[in-house]
This record gives sequence, structure tokens and C-alpha cells, in this order.
Amino acid sequence: MTETAIAWNTYSQQRPERRPVNAAGETTWFNWTQYADHGPGVELLDLRPDGRVLDLGCGKGGNAAHLATLGLDAVGVDVSPVQLRAAEERWGGAPGLEFRRADALAYLQEGGEDFDAVYSVYGVVWFTDPAALLPLVRDRLRPGGTLAFSQRPPVEGCYGCQASYIPRGEDEDPLVVKRWDYEPHVWISLLRETGFTDVTAQVLPAPPGNRKTGTLIVTARG
Ligand SMILES: C[S@@+](CC[C@H](N)C(=O)[O-])C[C@H]1O[C@@H](n2cnc3c(N)ncnc32)[C@H](O)[C@@H]1O
Repeated sequence: MTETAIAWNTYSQQRPERRPVNAAGETTWFNWTQYADHGPGVELLDLRPDGRVLDLGCGKGGNAAHLATLGLDAVGVDVSPVQLRAAEERWGGAPGLEFRRADALAYLQEGGEDFDAVYSVYGVVWFTDPAALLPLVRDRLRPGGTLAFSQRPPVEGCYGCQASYIPRGEDEDPLVVKRWDYEPHVWISLLRETGFTDVTAQVLPAPPGNRKTGTLIVTARG
């Protein structure tokens, strides 16, 4: 197993399951943010009713499962077997839903049927060099298809490739994964340079309460 997969397996074991129902009493829902019951929904993906959609770094699969319940064909790709085991246990067998264990770059390079939308929620777009990833995503989008992603906004002055630490036991070093942090205007430039159009990038403020970190949300057309 790769170091990346081992790191994300460790992360997975530290993360709680998605709640059985959200504040509206729904059993499936889409969440772009780090806060419960906050932010936009599937409308960001601008999908037709029978669209085909790819979740890059689907984790435990809750967002992809929601899209499948709406009648879309949803593929969730993740490098972590522990994340995918949790996804299969909770959502496996739902019509229109497929989970694939793969590194995202390798999956995109494989080719195959294209997608109407590709998205990443604190997922692969955050944890992969955009110079390698964005052209591959564009290649796998149908013309006019949507790329949308969310992640934590950068800390002021800390831009480009950064280290994220995944804690382990007291006697062990943390595991490290790389992430790519940019301000909204830089994402807009990167996406336009890759050939995307209609690019938007903004930071959605946190909901009322003690926590102040917003959510960077970016959308673009292939
Ligand atoms: C912070 S988690 C977010 C998971 C999920 N999108 C969510 O909102 O709960 C990041 C996910 O991206 C996956 N990931 C990171 N790098 C990846 C890569 N190169 N290929 C596939 N999956 C990757 C990890 O295994 C992990 O499940």
C-alpha cells in the first residue's frame, strides 16, 4: 500500500460517521463545508437529471450516495481502502452508485466514459498538485461540464504546497500528506490557464458561532 493510502486510512479511523439524518430530517444530503447543515447544495454541479458525476476523494461516500438517490450515476474514487470500506458498508449496492479504489491521477488517466460534473469536497483537488490534476479533470469532463470543489481557505501568507499532519500515537511521528493552498484569485488564474471558463472562487463565511474559518468554494466549466 502507498504511504498516501496508509495516511488516509489513519485519518479515516479518526473521523466520525456522517449522522443518520440531517437537521431537515433527510437521510442523504450534500455538504460542501466543514460545518453541519451549512452552505449550498447540489445546484453548484448544474446537473441534468440523468447526469454522470465523479467524486474525487469521496471518503465515506455520503455526498456521492446523495447524488445517486437523486437518480444520477455517481462514481466515488478514493485511494484509502478504510474510507471505501466505510462507504461500501453504509451505501454499497445503491442504484447508480459505484465506488472505486484508485489514486485519482491514475483513475483519470485510465480514460472511459466522460462526466457531466467532477467534484471534490476537501478531497483530491486539495491534496494533488493542480498542475498535474486540472488538465486531466478537464479531459474527462464533457464539454460545458462542471468542476466544483471546496476546501479550507489558505492561511494568509502560506501559499502553494503545504504539509498536513495526521496525528498518530504518542510515540509515533504524525503522517504527512501534501495539500495545495491558494487564494481565490489564484485558483481562478490556474483554472483559466488550464482552459476552464466561467470560473468563480469565493470564501463562504462560517455559520454563526465560535468557529470563524470559512469554506473556499470554486466552480468552473470545462
Ligand atoms: C479530507 S478527506 C475528505 C473525504 C470526503 N470528500 C468528505 O468530504 O468527507 C480526503 C479524501 O481524499 C482522499 N484522497 C486523497 N488523495 C487522494 C488521491 N490522490 N487519490 C484518491 N483519493 C485521494 C483520501 O483518501 C480521503 O478520503
